[in-house]
Amino acid sequence: MKVLVIGSGGREHAIVRKIAMSPKVDRLYCAPGNAGITELAECVDIAVSNYIGLADFAEREGIDLTVVGPDDPLVGGIVDVFEERGLRVFGPRRNAAIIEGSKSFSKDLMKKYHIPSAGYETFTSSEKAIEYLKTTGFPTVLKADGLALGKGVLICNDYEEAVCGVHQIMEEKQFGSAGDKLVIEEFMTGREVSVLAFCDGTRVLPMTSAQDHKRAKDGDCGLNTGGMGTFSPSPFYTAEVDEFCRKNIYRPTMDAMKAEGRDFVGILFVGLMLTKEGPKVLEYNARFGDPETQVVLPRMKNDIIEVFEACIDGKLDSIALDFEDNAAVCVVLAAEGYPEHYEKGYPISGLEHFQGKEDFFVFHAGTKLAGGNVVTNGGRILGITATGKDLKEARRKAYEATGWISFDNKYMRNDIGKAIEEV
Ligand code: AMP
Ligand code: GLY
Repeated sequence: MKVLVIGSGGREHAIVRKIAMSPKVDRLYCAPGNAGITELAECVDIAVSNYIGLADFAEREGIDLTVVGPDDPLVGGIVDVFEERGLRVFGPRRNAAIIEGSKSFSKDLMKKYHIPSAGYETFTSSEKAIEYLKTTGFPTVLKADGLALGKGVLICNDYEEAVCGVHQIMEEKQFGSAGDKLVIEEFMTGREVSVLAFCDGTRVLPMTSAQDHKRAKDGDCGLNTGGMGTFSPSPFYTAEVDEFCRKNIYRPTMDAMKAEGRDFVGILFVGLMLTKEGPKVLEYNARFGDPETQVVLPRMKNDIIEVFEACIDGKLDSIALDFEDNAAVCVVLAAEGYPEHYEKGYPISGLEHFQGKEDFFVFHAGTKLAGGNVVTNGGRILGITATGKDLKEARRKAYEATGWISFDNKYMRNDIGKAIEEV
């Protein structure tokens, strides 16, 4: 079969690699892809925002299955565009992707269906939001309602900071129309865990757990980023926690979406906070995580095409997920200055060290080919993943492999997975 993957990040490189391993696949395309993906798939220069262009391509090439990576096209309705043309596509429709696209939607859903999450209020006027801040405790959490490149969440330590945040989001529109509505949420403490789950509209099949490191600097300091590194599994996500989440979070979320006439087909990414009172939902995403996917898929044994097809056909009951009994760590190599200002266009060397190794992976994110060389082309450049018999071994190997790569302005966190050494 012919498969098209939409996106250009490390997540999509990990998805493409996994799809390329399926014996069912004869031709693999990626739009627009990146320098690393070109080794596994034919990259097609069509932007992820060009839904019509992508559907035209899928029709013309006789693509049998399209897999959508990023949030923007899912929330924007790319799946609906493909389905209207009778094209097979993996991902939630627009009316289901809203679970990521609107924080107030997801908070209202959780409240209505008694899914554990932080307490909250929603505001459309900055005066009312500021009035409310006089009654709340600190720290408090401000969330722009819509998509904001993962940056629309502000944790405010006192009233002044929070008022400033309300102005930034609602008046100055730092995140554009995503800030037309604001959610003010209770601050939770605990370990964070990401769980990605395959969904067929009715059933939900969670994959192994992972933990991200969102802040730019060691010790969880600095600005929020897309994610600076991950490990899988999370030792904090025990069998009891998993059982609790299946019963009280994953299944109720699927049932809630169905009850609302918004059947969810695709990947439901549940961001959890393991609080003293039990696991609670931090956020939902409607897609694979980045860089969670770079540690989860290398550990998955199933043919991913079979799982995608079972989701689309509503037959997830025919699938049992199987993961290696090992661990994986991914360290993101970024450009110094990310997530703010950084330079691009530096040549990357050392990529050849990863060839022919089964337990080391280099997932490209912000890279491109220039005159036959691979050069930096974004904030997050590469994801260096290693697997090992346990997290400690995987961590040691991942950091060893970060030393094989050089480029000017290379930056990484040095404490990815350090928390696991405390357990
Ligand atoms: P989100 O984009 O909703 O995942 O938020 C980004 C990050 O902000 C999360 O990964 C958490 O670290 C933090 N965060 C979000 N909501 C809360 C909350 N209610 N309490 C504490 N931290 C939060
Ligand atoms: N790594 C977090 C995300 O993909 O949203």
